[in-house]
Amino acid sequence: MIDARVNEDRLWHSHMVMAKIGATPGGGVGRLALTDLDRDARDLFVGWCQEAGCRVRVDRIGNVFARRAGTDESAAPVMTGSHLDTQPLGGRFDGIFGVLAGLEVVRALNDAGIATRRPLDVVVWTDEEGARFRSGVMGSGVFRGLGTLEDALAMTDEAGCSVGDELARIGYAGPEPVGGFPIHAYFEAHIEQGPVLESEGIVIGVVEGAQGSRRFRVTVEGEEGHAGTLPMTLRRDALLGAARMIDAINKVAFRHQPHPVITAGAIHVRPNSPNTVPGQAVFTIDSRHPDAAVLAAIDEEMRAACAAIAEAGGLPLRIEQTSDNQPVAFDPRCIDSVRNAATALGLSHRDIYSGAGHDACNLSHVAPTGMIFVPCEKGISHNEKENAKPEDLAAGAAVLMQVLAEWAAS
Ligand code: GLV
Ligand code: MN
Ligand code: MN
Repeated sequence: MIDARVNEDRLWHSHMVMAKIGATPGGGVGRLALTDLDRDARDLFVGWCQEAGCRVRVDRIGNVFARRAGTDESAAPVMTGSHLDTQPLGGRFDGIFGVLAGLEVVRALNDAGIATRRPLDVVVWTDEEGARFRSGVMGSGVFRGLGTLEDALAMTDEAGCSVGDELARIGYAGPEPVGGFPIHAYFEAHIEQGPVLESEGIVIGVVEGAQGSRRFRVTVEGEEGHAGTLPMTLRRDALLGAARMIDAINKVAFRHQPHPVITAGAIHVRPNSPNTVPGQAVFTIDSRHPDAAVLAAIDEEMRAACAAIAEAGGLPLRIEQTSDNQPVAFDPRCIDSVRNAATALGLSHRDIYSGAGHDACNLSHVAPTGMIFVPCEKGISHNEKENAKPEDLAAGAAVLMQVLAEWAAS
């Protein structure tokens, strides 16, 4: 155990200042990846890290690494972090907490005058949410070697803006190569985003792993027509087809026990006019389950259900997979470190499994990795109402500090 204390007020204040960037009327944050707001959030973080004495590097996919030097600069770093981008109507803590907890650890170590042997990197990963470019965990994915840098830079949003152009525009197309250096260990702090910890009155979730997920873009082609003159029997209505498919994939989820979670979360209709029969509908599917075999099986069932509806309606169909994240088990040594730190700090804790995806899932493929959860109010997340208690955030940061210090000494 190291003798340093995180500062609860400072950690909370940092969250509240960060939450002003992209603040929504409903009390949340809307800060999509690689927008001007994302740039402002990154700039704020970089300024804070430089004030804390860190050296900041940016890689070619825009991941930001703020390094607190170790006494042995040739030693592989211990890394922590998360993301600053949010959902369109997101909260103040999802991702932000992991980044600011890392910064708070740096500040607390500085306050206590404690040097670690290994350097400490606090990371902001690019586009974790995937709300804008539709894939998610992008920066950590390229870092881990999943897909190529070129493919990621070429991805476009709905308006046709590419990741590469947007990175350059906001000044975060860094010069550093992506990944390819050893990491001694990675730890990520995050709000739970579910109801378990709060309902059991427990402060620390010792995260064992995370379920797998797949995302798809489904394009249903129909034919535009006049809403007043085209008889019902002659229509090829793309939106009606999409609606039937969305209902069918929901039923796929309920055919399995325990249920996978399947979501059609975004839809675009052409031409999106009240008196034109829709000629095209494009919607997304996000499917998740802890078991890779079930994930593959529901993929097949969803494709078959959509194909049958498309055929019956005379609607050409295209299904593209936009992401594939396997279920993850975190490193037993990292899990033990988190559990032991919580015990040593006298904090209530339990083992927990993550329903959400995290950058840590990608990092688990390149370094021993663990995660620390803290409760959030009523388990609400991806929602402007997302909330957490200052003392719980401080408890999570205190656990993070102990595990980072432990691994930075070894
Ligand atoms: C991350 O926000 C996820 O979709 O799990
Ligand atoms: Mn997150
Ligand atoms: Mn999220």
